[in-house]
Formats: sequence, C-alpha cells, structure tokens
Amino acid sequence: MSPLAIIGGTGLTALEGLTIIDQRTVSTPFGEPSSPLIVGEYHNKKVIFLPRHGQNHTIPPHRINYRANIWALKDQGVEQIIAVAAVGGIRSDLAPGVLAVPEQIIDYTYGREQSFFSDNFSADKHIDFTVPYDKNIRQKILKAAKLQQVSIVDGGTYAATQGPRLETAAEIKRLAQDGCAMVGMTGMPEAYLARELNMAYATCAVMANWAAGLTDDVITMDEIQQTLSKGMTQVKQVLAELILSQ
Ligand code: HPA
Repeated sequence: MSPLAIIGGTGLTALEGLTIIDQRTVSTPFGEPSSPLIVGEYHNKKVIFLPRHGQNHTIPPHRINYRANIWALKDQGVEQIIAVAAVGGIRSDLAPGVLAVPEQIIDYTYGREQSFFSDNFSADKHIDFTVPYDKNIRQKILKAAKLQQVSIVDGGTYAATQGPRLETAAEIKRLAQDGCAMVGMTGMPEAYLARELNMAYATCAVMANWAAGLTDDVITMDEIQQTLSKGMTQVKQVLAELILSQ
C-alpha cells in the first residue's frame, strides 16, 4: 500500500509516536524539499512526514519550495496527502483551538511557482480545480475525528495569503466579504501542485488565533503557540485514528 504523507506546518514539526525508519534526502528537478522526508511507521502503518517550514521552522511561507515538496512525495509513491495547517479564524464559529476541514480555497498569494509545467506547458495542463480538496480524504479526517470524539468543523473557504506578515484588519474584512472562513499562508500552491500530480490532498486546519481586527488584541506568536499546542494534540489524535484505519 502506498504510504500516506503528512505535511506538517506551524506547531507540527514532528510526529510523536512515529518510529523513524529513514530520513530520506530526495532531490527533484525543482530543487530540494523543505527537509529530508521522515519515513516512518505510525501505529504499524507506513507514513511519510514532511515539515513544510523545515525541521527548525526556518523557511517562511513565500520561500517554501512547494514544487520540490510535492514532487519528492510523489517520487516516494505517495498518493494521499494530509496537510496540517495553522490558520487564523475569520468565521464566528472558528474560534482559536477549533479544528476544521476546509472545502474551498481562494488564492491571494503572488510570485510563487504555481505549476510543474511552467517550462513545458501544453493546453491539457489547464487542470480542473473546481473542488480543490479530495472528497475522500476530507471524509476520512471527519470520520476519524468523530471516532475520537474530537469536534471538527466540516467546510469553509481557506484564504491563502502571502505572508510572512499577518494581515491588516481591512484585509480580513475583505476576506470575510469574499466568503473566506479562515486564513493561512501555505495552502497554495501546495493543494494545486498535488492536483497536478494526481495526488489526493486535503487539509486539517487548526485555528491558532482570531484573524486580524476581529478582537482588540495584538496577535502574538506566544499566544498562537499556546493555542496550537492544544489543537495539535487533537490533530495527532485524529491522525492516529485515520492512519490506524487505513
Ligand atoms: N493569518 C495568516 N496565517 C495564519 C494566521 C493568520 O491570522 N494564523 C496562523 N496562520
């Protein structure tokens, strides 16, 4: 069976309980991935873990080599990717600490390499992206959460912003008007690149903070880390359940 891949984000740079079999350096036609691929066994199932910001969180969202990351996973036979993402909550039910499985994306990023086919393009490479996240993996995440009695929100639009700065209050107002429920910096082009290589991809998002301007508070990294450490415990519970039932 092909290994499941987990791409970890802020707050998830390692997976405890993962028995590491190999740290595999993979080179790709698009350069180096964010870190060697952590190949391991999680509850007796083969899993590949990749921290998208690097093992010490030194790669900012706009500098991540998304193409190398996705290509390296494909190269290792991965067919399914679960992307874990820390996000800011915009919609009123998405308070800090809440987990969600978004179903749509709006891409506000710029200047990122968006395609594997930029240098050898052809008409058939305008690939359908109507439904950006894989239905099946979304359901697997939701089901695993239910089994673990972890509450999780089904749906919502993920706004992918450029970062590395957080947004202004006016930007968040605009995103809310656009219908976005949550905001993060790494959802694109990651999701689309997975689609280009025919890999099933879905996101498990953790609200790290209220998005800018929704409270009077200044958003601090300390507060984000604190909220995330709780949320990530739940994410790990969900992942363990999902992997077990693979
Ligand atoms: N905005 C963008 N990305 C984020 C946020 C946010 O408020 N919180 C965590 N990642």
